[in-house]
Amino acid sequence: IERTFSILKPDATRRNLTGAINALIEKAGLRIVAQKRVQITRAQAETFYAVHKERPFFGELVETMIGGPVVVQVLEGEDAIRKYRDVLGATDPSKAAPGTIRKEFALSVGENSAHGSDAPETAAIEIAQWFSGNEIVG
Ligand code: GTP
Ligand code: MG
Repeated sequence: IERTFSILKPDATRRNLTGAINALIEKAGLRIVAQKRVQITRAQAETFYAVHKERPFFGELVETMIGGPVVVQVLEGEDAIRKYRDVLGATDPSKAAPGTIRKEFALSVGENSAHGSDAPETAAIEIAQWFSGNEIVG
């Protein structure tokens, strides 16, 4: 059994879509074992997406992530990291497959509704950044 880290981004909370997205997560067989709504600070957003800091869209990415509350989550299941990336769909919603979160809900590449960890190492780092052990109940 594997865990991954998820963020329901500000465009999703603003449009009241967190329940609809959680329904797709649960339908895919992933279990939400931790969840909280938070306002990310600029410093936290810059740290979280530090791997992209040289990219031309970094400033816009940070502004978007702090533009409203987010829901941070830990998802658990068989092959959870890959499975959640599949449920998310392509980064660019116009390229995402039907039925995926980004195809159904995302507005644009910048406002693409949700994040999922891309590897076991990043999942562990991201989960530890947002949750203490006793907040995760499997
Ligand atoms: P995350 O799960 O959010 O990490 O998305 P990803 O892994 O599918 O994509 P990636 O890590 O490459 O990019 C991180 C985020 O930066 C994306 O989810 C987008 O919101 C944003 N992003 C990526 N490329 C672009 C771009 O060309 N323009 C803009 N405005 N945003 C981008
Ligand atoms: Mg990524």
